[in-house]
Amino acid sequence: MIGDFKGKHILHGNQFSREDLDRVMKVAEEFEGGLERGGTYDILKGKVLATLFFEPSTRTRLSFESAMLSLGGGVTSVASGATSSAAKGESIGDTALTVSQYAHVIVMRHPEIGSAAEAARVAAVPVINAGDGAGQHPTQALLDVYTIRKELGKLDGITVSLVGDLKYGRTVHALVEILSLYDVRLRLVSPGLLRMPSEIVSSLEGRGMEVRETDDLVKAATESDLLYVTRIQKERFSDIKEYEKIKGSYVIDKALLQKAKKDIVIMHPLPRVDEIAAEVDDYKGAAYFRQVRNGVYVRMALLALVLGAR
Ligand code: NCD
Repeated sequence: MIGDFKGKHILHGNQFSREDLDRVMKVAEEFEGGLERGGTYDILKGKVLATLFFEPSTRTRLSFESAMLSLGGGVTSVASGATSSAAKGESIGDTALTVSQYAHVIVMRHPEIGSAAEAARVAAVPVINAGDGAGQHPTQALLDVYTIRKELGKLDGITVSLVGDLKYGRTVHALVEILSLYDVRLRLVSPGLLRMPSEIVSSLEGRGMEVRETDDLVKAATESDLLYVTRIQKERFSDIKEYEKIKGSYVIDKALLQKAKKDIVIMHPLPRVDEIAAEVDDYKGAAYFRQVRNGVYVRMALLALVLGAR
């Protein structure tokens, strides 16, 4: 439980209580409404966000930067590990200490599990985890929950199928932590080799969640209010032949939608490769690009909260 967000690090999906989520959602809604009405904000004027991305990103980095600029703050960034002193062998700790002198908040993505927590141990300013290897991606989970609530109108009482790479996908690792706070039934749909780590599954069950693992996408789609589809995380495979074997295992297309529960919502953290056919994009429940926009509001809320401006 976070309680007062001011000065806090955002590292893991298990940090939040329902009250914390209500707070983030409420502030995100406030900003969404303000921007929709054409309003502007300057509540973070004079504050600087540093984005440190040691792995590729389009949405996460740009939406954080867009969020900071939309609140009147400034942004400085290292666009890739190759252009920073990490390439010279600098430790995560030294990098974090250094960047703390330039910025009021740090958003970091790094290939190692636990890297953001390591930075947070020494940083003098809040660190926000924008993805630590196959570990966690808590801000994506928050925008996912915000999107689910908008699309389905509720979180309690729904059935959610997570589809694809549940082993390496950090977005789903963070999302299940948050969904476990609600009355959500979970279906985990993956090839055998990419199942959700068993310690995560047993921890969810220990908290009373109904979790069913399956490889039957059609059956899961008939029972679910939402399909949350993920990309197979090619970059995490040590043996590329394994990837070649499983890629394309599940594809969401119009034929599947016809068999699925009526009005099913389709989400995806993006980027997609081939797991959602382009023909699905004009289906009214295809929410993945609305999900992208929601990322800006939720990240505005997080920045305002950890910097004490809300
Ligand atoms: C995800 C990530 O980086 O974990 N992308 C994102 O942040 N929206 C998902 C992915 O790369 O497959």
